[in-house]
Formats: sequence, structure tokens, C-alpha cells
Amino acid sequence: MTAGRLRTLDELGDVGGTRMFLRVDLNVPLSDGSIADDSRIVAAIPTIDELRERGAALVVATHLGRPKGIPKDDLRTRVVADALTGLLGGRAAVQAIGMPDEHETIDAVGRLAPGDIAMLENLRFDPGEEANDPRFAGRLAELADAYVDDAFGAAHRAHASIAALPELMLASGRPAVAGRLLQKEVEVLGRLLHGPERPYVAVLGGAKVSDKLGVIDALLHRVDHILIGGAMAFTLLAAEGSSVGRSLVEHDRVKDVRGIRRTAEAEGVRMELPTDVVAAAEPALDVPRITVPARAIPDDLMGLDVGPSTVEAFGRIIADARTVLWNGPMGVFEVEPFSAGTRGIALAIARANAYSVVGGGDSIAAVRQAGLEGSFDHLSTGGGASLEFLEGRPLPGITILED
Ligand code: 3PG
Repeated sequence: MTAGRLRTLDELGDVGGTRMFLRVDLNVPLSDGSIADDSRIVAAIPTIDELRERGAALVVATHLGRPKGIPKDDLRTRVVADALTGLLGGRAAVQAIGMPDEHETIDAVGRLAPGDIAMLENLRFDPGEEANDPRFAGRLAELADAYVDDAFGAAHRAHASIAALPELMLASGRPAVAGRLLQKEVEVLGRLLHGPERPYVAVLGGAKVSDKLGVIDALLHRVDHILIGGAMAFTLLAAEGSSVGRSLVEHDRVKDVRGIRRTAEAEGVRMELPTDVVAAAEPALDVPRITVPARAIPDDLMGLDVGPSTVEAFGRIIADARTVLWNGPMGVFEVEPFSAGTRGIALAIARANAYSVVGGGDSIAAVRQAGLEGSFDHLSTGGGASLEFLEGRPLPGITILED
């Protein structure tokens, strides 16, 4: 939960002629070396434009993938630097530079003029980043006069560029503030934490219930309904003793999900599970598939999407909602024959007269695929970060920027 007041770009005063360290989360999905979804880059632009217009030079930094402290050619930031140049539409060209300890990097940063943008190499090529190493943070701190964090997607990671660096900047009397994207995410998600309009409905999906136990537990004290789809529903159905065939079940979580059902009952929260599913032998394009009751899936099949009755029942609850939070697809939506459930839920939320927030790369991809992005109030750039925020946990990338 955000306790203090978030410091923002409004507090920076005159930044003309200064050098800003701008931490962004341009950890975009890559497919064969090209960017499969550039929404995180697009979302970083308002802060970049504002700082440039105010006369600052920018040292932009991100992580990309999980190289685990070792440089990897397929995870170099040049691809995102080039994409950013393209998206800036001629306003600036982004120069891809190296790691912070290289002479060439320090020289290039020293030559930056107001409005220029340089992008550091993938921060995670240095083991100091994930280790939150103050020495690595110290090298980053040497590059700039002030620190701006716009990396909401990584705000839950206590890494050097997110935690140790702003701490160092503040300790040396330099500002450390949130960019416009981080500011907006905190405002929007904060609205779901503090006094959302009711009924408040959470729609959760995705493969594993283990990833969502914390957020379910927290949401049970805040929402009126939780609608659960995706493969995570099968662990809940299996815990009831239902036949789920070969569907994905996390057997070691059965005890936890029984606890969740008890909490839901005690809190008066209606937790809805699928009543029917689209089942097949495997999630492939050309396999025979049938719609079966979710509690009686044939032994040789697995549930791969929620069925039409479930979409209808979930849709009725969503239609009455005033606030909807959605995280996680309802099935294997990337394989077309199993995408109808996720699409149906996206449509139901889009049509509802509710304040709607979507988090998580997969659900956002589904919203975009259905062409519905304009019908949602907020598409969060954070997956794990938005879930941890909604659990009410303090996020290291945010608390350090609060008074
Ligand atoms: C994300 O994509 O959720 C963030 O960029 C964080 O990435 P990570 O899970 O590898 O820390």
C-alpha cells in the first residue's frame, strides 16, 4: 500500500541543462529478435517528451529479459532503442550506449546536449543490478544529476537501478521522483485499493493458482465477486473433488485453495468457478474439441478454455459491476480454437458500465487482439508489479519515491 505522497516530475523545478537518469521498463516481448508488443515503449514516451521539452538530456535505462548477470547478444537494448527512435517520430534519435563502467559510455553521456537521449545497455548484464549492489548503483549515479523512475512494471524488484540508486541519489542531495507513467499507475491502482465503487468484481485467470494466491487472499477482503477462469480454476475444482481429467492441477496447492474458499465464505465474497469448459487432448489447432461440464471432464481430455455458459454467467456478474479488475486469460487464448472464452470476457468487461482495469501481458494482448483497448479505463503496464501493488504490499520502486 502506498503510504506517503509520491514525488513526481512536478517537484523537479527547472531541469534545463541537467542530465536525468530515467529508469523505464522496456522489457518487451521479443519474437525472433523483433518486438512483439511495443506498448511498454509507447507508455514511456510522455515522460521522455516532457523531460526533453523541459530541456534535460536523458540517460535512459531498462532491463530486458533475464540474462542473469551475463551479456547476451539477443537481449541487447539496441532493438528497444531503435524502436523508441521510431516511435518518437523524428523528435529525437536514441543513441544505444554501453554499460555504465565503460569509458565510451561515460564519454557519450558527457557529450549529451539538452534534449538528447542515450540508452544504456541491458542493466541485467551486470550481476550488480539484480543483487541491488550499491557499487553498481554508484556507477549509475555518476551519470546523472537527478533520477526519474517510470518503470512501474519493475517496481516490485529491489534491484540496483530501482532501489539502491534512488537511495544514493537522495543521500547525495539529488532528486529522485516518479515519472508520469508510474504516477498514473499508482493513482489508478490506488483507486482499486482505496474505496472502489461497488460492486467490485475481480476476474482472474492464467495457468497457475500459485502465482495468484497472495492477490486472491488480499482481494477477498476488498471485492464482492471473484470470477476464476484459466487453468488455475482446475486446482480449485480438483480441491472440491471434481473430475478434471488431464487438466493442469497444482496438487501441492490444494490445501491453500481450500483455505481460500473458507476465507471467501467468511468474507461473504462470491467466488465463481467455470461451469463448462472447452476440452481437448492438447492445446493444438486441429484437435477435436468438445464443451463439457467443468466438474466432469473426461479422463483423457484437458480443459483449455471456459465454455459459453461460463462466459454468460460471468458476463451477467460483470454487467452489474461498477469496478472490474482483470488479470489473466480464461484459456489458451493464443491458440484460436481456445480463445473464445477470453474474448467473451474481454467483451463483457468492455461493455460494462464499470471502471475497468486490466493487468498482465497476456490479458492485455487479448484485449488488443479483440481491438477493445479503447473500451477499458486502464491497461496496466505491470504484471507482477500490479498484482503485488493490489495485494497492498509496499513496492521498493515506489516507497523510495514517497515522502
Ligand atoms: C515484467 O515484465 O513483469 C517486469 O519487467 C519484471 O521482469 P522480471 O519478472 O523479469 O523481474
